[in-house]
Amino acid sequence: MGIRREAFASFAVILLSLVLLLAYVPSPASAATLKCRDRPAGRERTSLNVGWRFQRSETSPDGLSYDQLKAYILPSANDFIKDPAQHHQRPSSPPPPVDRAQAGYDDSQWEQLDLPHDWAVKGPFYTGADPVIDGSMGRLPIQGVGWYRRTFALGPADEGKAVYLDVDGAMSYAMVWVNGNLVGGWPYGYASFRLDLTPYVNKGGEENQLAIRLDNAVDSSRFYPGAGIYRNVWLTKVSPVHIGRSGTWVRSRDISTTSATLDITVQLENTAKSGGKAVDVSVVTDVHVMDAASGKAGDKVATFPNATASLDAGGKQSVNGSVSLQNPRLWGPRPEQEPNMYVAVSHVYVGGKEVDTYETPFGVRTVEYSGETGLSVNGQHVFLKGICQHHDLGALGAAFSVPAAERQLQVMQDMGVNSLRTSHNPPAPELLQLADRMGILVLDEIFDTWRTAKVTNDFHRIFDDWHEADTRAFVRRDRNHPSVFLWSFGNEVAEQSQGDAGAATARALHAIVRDEDPTRQTCVGMDQARPGSAFTQAVDTIGLNYQGEGRGDGPPAFPSFHAASPGKMIFSTESSSAVSSRGTFLFPVTPANSSIVRDGNGADDATMTVSSYDLYAVSWGASPEKVFFAQDTYPWVAGEYVWTGWDYVGEPTPYADRARSSYFGIVDLAGFPKERYYLYQSRWRPDVRNAHILPHWDWPGRVGQVTPVHVFSSADEAELFVNGESQGRVRRAARTYRFRWDQVVYQPGEVRVETYKDGAAWASATVRTTGKAKGLRLSTYKGRAGIRAGGDDLAFVSLDIVDERGDVVPLAGDDITFSVDGPGEIVATDNGDPRDYVAFPSKERKAFNGHALAIVRARAGATEPITVKASADGLEAGEVTLKIE
Ligand SMILES: *[C@@H]1O[C@H](CO)[C@@H](O)[C@H](O)[C@H]1NC(C)=O
Ligand SMILES: *[C@@H]1O[C@H](CO)[C@@H](O)[C@H](O)[C@H]1NC(C)=O
Ligand SMILES: *[C@@H]1O[C@H](CO)[C@@H](O)[C@H](O)[C@H]1NC(C)=O
Repeated sequence: MGIRREAFASFAVILLSLVLLLAYVPSPASAATLKCRDRPAGRERTSLNVGWRFQRSETSPDGLSYDQLKAYILPSANDFIKDPAQHHQRPSSPPPPVDRAQAGYDDSQWEQLDLPHDWAVKGPFYTGADPVIDGSMGRLPIQGVGWYRRTFALGPADEGKAVYLDVDGAMSYAMVWVNGNLVGGWPYGYASFRLDLTPYVNKGGEENQLAIRLDNAVDSSRFYPGAGIYRNVWLTKVSPVHIGRSGTWVRSRDISTTSATLDITVQLENTAKSGGKAVDVSVVTDVHVMDAASGKAGDKVATFPNATASLDAGGKQSVNGSVSLQNPRLWGPRPEQEPNMYVAVSHVYVGGKEVDTYETPFGVRTVEYSGETGLSVNGQHVFLKGICQHHDLGALGAAFSVPAAERQLQVMQDMGVNSLRTSHNPPAPELLQLADRMGILVLDEIFDTWRTAKVTNDFHRIFDDWHEADTRAFVRRDRNHPSVFLWSFGNEVAEQSQGDAGAATARALHAIVRDEDPTRQTCVGMDQARPGSAFTQAVDTIGLNYQGEGRGDGPPAFPSFHAASPGKMIFSTESSSAVSSRGTFLFPVTPANSSIVRDGNGADDATMTVSSYDLYAVSWGASPEKVFFAQDTYPWVAGEYVWTGWDYVGEPTPYADRARSSYFGIVDLAGFPKERYYLYQSRWRPDVRNAHILPHWDWPGRVGQVTPVHVFSSADEAELFVNGESQGRVRRAARTYRFRWDQVVYQPGEVRVETYKDGAAWASATVRTTGKAKGLRLSTYKGRAGIRAGGDDLAFVSLDIVDERGDVVPLAGDDITFSVDGPGEIVATDNGDPRDYVAFPSKERKAFNGHALAIVRARAGATEPITVKASADGLEAGEVTLKIE
């Protein structure tokens, strides 16, 4: 987001200094008071998000490159390379000194900002022909070198502590210096990584200068990657004897309603200088129920036996234990099951003194994968009602935001989604916490590219050096999450078509994943692999991109893959790729149930719009209904991951050269549902009494012309009325998924549908011709009346342009100006129109088909309410007030 918060930053610095000052003061009482712990012993993890200086240069400002410093970066991978013989040695000669990494460097003219930060999202968009960053990457300025600098102080209380920098994600080729010393780095921009700062920091209270250099090449991705330190950054301080990064792993087995056995592995480290004495360590791990509302440890329900180890200085050792858990409350996906969580709290003791405390949230559940019955969780069949999501959050770009991610998941869950595929990269850690808490299964995916390039500067450049470390770090970070049920180690990789050589790479990656986690199966999103090929044999499940249900007009490939791999769970890792512009309807409407989009058939190249009758898909895709048809024809299909749940920045197929964001979403980039939202809801939540009519009924140019009316509903029968006149009551045939009246002749007025299920009235809906636009109506997401000050809370304010009766005027495209009264600010605006090149932070936004969105935050320290206002020429202004929570 990169919002300026200078006032808060300096306040925070003062506060931080105070806290540090207090921590220095040696107090004879402190040893005694520490005994009655109210915070974890030994471990301190503080956010480093606030108070950075930043500068981006389009070309390298410092003459540095990853290739030049690689030998100093590679050792950062060592913890995740299994064979010690393969570990990288840091060169004995020092790296070249770097001006920008020195404490004395003058950064006073640099931009001040807080993290998470995406330097590209504010734009401007490249609008011309032949842009440096093309439409597929979102036409936003991701390229160049970004330097981030800030300081932090450590006091005498930190003497003897190990000090780590934990970066949840930095795009990309991160290199980190402390006090001018190159510490290490991590090139893959989606990875979370830790660097040991201990040898380089001073602990006498003076400032330590942290400097991070990122480098994004053009052509580094097929889609919008974002740019910058776009996730959280932490400073972790621990005693020399402590639990390592991702250092615990809790598994469960022999699960019944009355008991379960838990197994734990705890990875201990002693970072004291080698040569020192070995230390006797004991670890006691308590298991607590996790309170669903607070996420905090509640009642203690079990304790693992005391485990002991003797740790050499500089050594590492794992300890294991098992314990029986009575009457386990299982984690399962909503809505059928409840996502119950536990938290294991590990206490590490040396000489009777607790030196570290480490919390591991986890869940108890069973997962079974079957070629015949698909997926079962806790013995109950779960059909995968999934969506693929890119990591960007629309107008916020890649800068991670918990409320934005939560809103995305809630909108999907309300539609009936029970699973998410993190296409095509490891997600922010908080996304998995949300999925755990909300009961959403996660197909956790790591790579879009292996050794063979898709674009010039993608992961293939570092595959050989980094794939093992990236894969192990990814699995270790995420394997305690009960939501994660399947690993994907690739998507549409070229290696699918490379015979035995390609399959060998797949086998190698599969082996790494299973070595880190034998409890879960694996997949790769396969769009080219052939049934029974060596490549398909290298994965545990058959995840097909599009070919399962059949591409375009093509036949389904599910039967041949199922026949060749009958024992493996089979499903669509990627399905549909239907495209549409929200609220736009084009004529004529295809009589087919799935049709390849092209100019004149569902698309209008002149206006760069695609029809929302939602029967049109790209040449390699299929309508949602063609996918449903295949699933209902082959009952052993385990489910699907629709491409995509939400629109995303980049990949604006079919207008790749002329737009800035995708047309694939079931929901547009701003969060407004497209028509097929209700089609998926009808199928995935048959309990919801819904009836949704399309199109809108404002067609002054179509009086007397055939204007098909379609209805999405979970009902089995429906009767349509146009201006009171029945168009017929129809029953939905088996393996059809919409009601259609294709001969309706347009007259202004009212369209009404009455639906029935099992002969009884079910749901009804009305769409009417609207009057002239009269005013603007603002509302908050889910009617929330408040916002928290500062931090990362956001309010999502939707705007509707309405007529006198309050109906949304479906084609209204007025120029809106958003403003805020009170201690808040507009972070970004959007309208869900893939063609809109107005930069996301703009307060002026043209409405698109009746709607627009403003994303608002409250300043730190705010107490007074915030009023968000919208105005437009000739329309009554709208406003909504947010109280500070
Ligand atoms: C764990 O075992 C060790 C070694 O027997 C002992 O010194 C220590 O007090 C025990 N810790 C607890 C919490 O029981
Ligand atoms: C603990 O369990 C892990 C995982 O099974 C294993 O790799 C490790 O060797 C075990 N450690 C000990 C000390 O038994
Ligand atoms: C969809 O259209 C195809 C080709 O016209 C036809 O074979 C199929 O039965 C139709 N499916 C449905 C669900 O109407």
